[in-house]
Amino acid sequence: MMTSSKFHLRECSVVDSDLLSLVGSGTLLETFAGLLNGADLLAHCQKNNSPAAFTKYLTEPTTRAFFAEAEPGDAPVGYILLCEPFLPVDLLPGDYELRRIYLFHRFHGTGIGRALMKQAVDISREMGRKRLLLGVNRENTAAISFYEKAGFAKVGERQFTVGSRVCDDDIMALVL
Ligand SMILES: CC(C)(COP(=O)(O)OP(=O)(O)OC[C@H]1O[C@@H](n2cnc3c(N)ncnc32)[C@H](O)[C@@H]1OP(=O)(O)O)[C@@H](O)C(=O)NCCC(=O)NCCS
Repeated sequence: MMTSSKFHLRECSVVDSDLLSLVGSGTLLETFAGLLNGADLLAHCQKNNSPAAFTKYLTEPTTRAFFAEAEPGDAPVGYILLCEPFLPVDLLPGDYELRRIYLFHRFHGTGIGRALMKQAVDISREMGRKRLLLGVNRENTAAISFYEKAGFAKVGERQFTVGSRVCDDDIMALVL
């Protein structure tokens, strides 16, 4: 089956919380199944990818989220979520966080990932932000390479809990 590489981005609002929960859980499972424990992953989805979790994010005035929707049909295949930073580094005025960037595997390498990152950077600049931060699992070397290619560099570390498992994350930043 051929995967079309046509897509568009659509800004999400709070009415998209259920859909974001679906895509957030699906892409998280796809990324980490077989690498992290299933029960931990499901607990993490139920807590951090629930419709209520996305409603909480999207009722904050400075949260922004976008779906990548495949054409034809407009099915959501990936998303980004940007919000005020909550990271254990010295935060500066104008900091912003790319909290999520996820795309279903079948759409990797089609340019959608690059477009989602460009949108994250463009929106951050439009909002007058000076630095974009993110946290990434240290074993997720593909994502780290993708971020390095986009210009991010490591600025710190943190521990991140997935269910009952504590993971080591790198914190990376891009000066805008
Ligand atoms: C991160 C993600 C959105 C990137 O999307 P993608 O479709 O793989 O990326 P693209 O193919 O658009 O690549 C964009 C650029 O990054 C580069 N890149 C992508 N993966 C790379 C890798 N593993 N190593 C080196 N460079 C890489 C590409 O070569 C491309 O460079 P170019 O713009 O010069 O051509 C996607 O891989 C994903 O959803 N991964 C799973 C979820 C995940 O891990 N999210 C991050 C959690 S912190």
